[in-house]
Amino acid sequence: MASFKDICFTPAEFSSIARLDKSKFSTLESNGMISTVRRRLGNSDRKMVTLEETQRYFHEIRSGRHGDHEFITELPKNKVQMFYNVKGGTGKSTLTAQYVMKAAILGLKVLAIDLDGQGHLTVNLDVLDGHERPTIYDVLINDLPLADAILPVAPGLDLVPANLGLCNIEIPLNNKTRREYRLSEALAKVTHEYDIVVADTNPAASILNGSMLVAADLVNVVCATNPLSFHGMSLVMATIEEMEREFKRSLEVRIVPNMYDNREIISQEVLGELRSQFPENCTKAVVNRSADLNEATKRRPTVWGVNAIGVAAQDIQALTEELLYS
Ligand SMILES: Nc1ncnc2c1ncn2[C@@H]1O[C@H](COP(=O)(O)OP(=O)(O)OP(=O)(O)O)[C@@H](O)[C@H]1O
Ligand SMILES: [Mg+2]
Repeated sequence: MASFKDICFTPAEFSSIARLDKSKFSTLESNGMISTVRRRLGNSDRKMVTLEETQRYFHEIRSGRHGDHEFITELPKNKVQMFYNVKGGTGKSTLTAQYVMKAAILGLKVLAIDLDGQGHLTVNLDVLDGHERPTIYDVLINDLPLADAILPVAPGLDLVPANLGLCNIEIPLNNKTRREYRLSEALAKVTHEYDIVVADTNPAASILNGSMLVAADLVNVVCATNPLSFHGMSLVMATIEEMEREFKRSLEVRIVPNMYDNREIISQEVLGELRSQFPENCTKAVVNRSADLNEATKRRPTVWGVNAIGVAAQDIQALTEELLYS
């Protein structure tokens, strides 16, 4: 299975990602806006667009030299973002991984940060030697410059990986002066090099997560559409409000409904309650429960590598555009 950096798109997949009418692809190809390569897929030789070529296309569009495009081409509204929920297993790491890869496909320069000792974002991004690398522990506790903990994953996508050692950060971090400010101070030295910085967090009301709440502009709370996840939402929102008061910050908060199944009444009910209780925060995009997302985790490519025009790919596309631009 190809890793993210080797991903290629068929003309139909590329058109769907770029929100282009399929008939326009050949025009773009003949006027040099897109170039293709031939790749062997099974028994046939297919015309494909590489990741780097896709990124080059979006850079060109974003440069504004080609007039107005239907596709949204601005830079992200909120530069520093985090996926968050004190409840475990709601889909934070899965959505963070797909989101950062999708943002990189759109030609943005992305820094992903794994703030969970489980290292699931690291694994989801196909970095398998994370246990040997420096993590945010070394940055916050041993004063390693953040730049020295950054690992290139693919063109346009860098990662600060995590490993089990990060689980031991809470006590030493608690003993540091200005503990909640250390992460935002470290980040401030590198954010100018990126269009967007996105952190995956650990499922706890930890100091490390608190530090990211101090650094972030946008908090994406991932809520599974089941009753217990919904029940935990009041606690999550209260935790965020408390941080805002204590650190005199004003955060934008989005709630992302995940693992939705429209065949289940309970899933429909929870989505309805989320939307009526948090009308300002709930994203329009809903991520359906899909085997493609589970498979993307196991085989470690993007959902586009599993099925580029499936429901999961469409859900991630809609979610990414909403979290980036609205
Ligand atoms: N929309 C979805 N459809 C199907 N499976 C999903 C979906 N979202 C997440 N999953 C699966 O649910 C499991 C938990 O997801 P994930 O690890 O992303 O949750 P998490 O919130 O990061 O967990 P933790 O709190 O332990 O960090 C994974 O096996 C993942 O593949
Ligand atoms: Mg996780």
